[in-house]
Amino acid sequence: MSPEKIHTGLSLQILNDKILHFKSINSTNTYLLGAHSHSNGTVVLADFQTSGRGRLARVWESKKAESLLFSIFLNRDLVSYPHFAFTFIAAISVFEALQSIAPEINLALKWPNDILINNKKVCGILVECRTSGSNLSKIVIGIGLNVLQDKDFFKKQGLKGGTSLALETKVKSSLLTILKQIILKTDQNLALYKNTDGLEIIKKWKSYCPYIGKKIKIDNGKEIIPGIFHDIGTDGSIIIDSKGKLNNFYAGDVTVENTEI
Ligand code: BTN
Repeated sequence: MSPEKIHTGLSLQILNDKILHFKSINSTNTYLLGAHSHSNGTVVLADFQTSGRGRLARVWESKKAESLLFSIFLNRDLVSYPHFAFTFIAAISVFEALQSIAPEINLALKWPNDILINNKKVCGILVECRTSGSNLSKIVIGIGLNVLQDKDFFKKQGLKGGTSLALETKVKSSLLTILKQIILKTDQNLALYKNTDGLEIIKKWKSYCPYIGKKIKIDNGKEIIPGIFHDIGTDGSIIIDSKGKLNNFYAGDVTVENTEI
């Protein structure tokens, strides 16, 4: 089925203002990673995904038109940014978009790619790339933001630490309004990354994360390591202080003490 084309009407520096809207698709990430070429900054939005994917080969579940399911396609000079930059830029952009829509909510970023409200996960990000020879040729930033789901949804999916914007704010926000805000912020933060060699992006990320200095555990797939969240490296790694020794981790699942996440 061919998608409906939506124009955001936003004035953008890097992204383009075209959204391809599908009622149903396997996965917006899979679509953009396919053989077709797209212009830089094309956004693919779906009301429903039949094979939505999360990090670490997990499934990303959704019900029709209850969440924002979309991916942003990047090529051109942007592919020279390091991989972690896209995750950080997307997380910061979702954070700032939600803050502008609901300034009173208690938002937080959790390393590497989660956005939380009241210590519960409201949004996840999956950045994937394709290479051509030894160079990156395509980057796809996939974002799944829970907007309208009720408690039952999370209970049925067994997602104890999950929530939606509606559950936390008691307001049913418009999916398209939120999407446009995220696109606008992503465009601004992509430019900020370029203009500050990434430093302002790392600075913002840290200022949006309340868990630095707190007790955490990281599951790196081999073992679970407890420690204190010491800092974020300039390469996007998480630096954990385990009994006085600082270790950098580049992937893994973090849990924060005294929370369900
Ligand atoms: C995570 O595991 O936290 C990341 C979830 C990312 C889900 C989004 S929904 C839109 C895009 N398409 C996919 O198949 N996955 C991402």
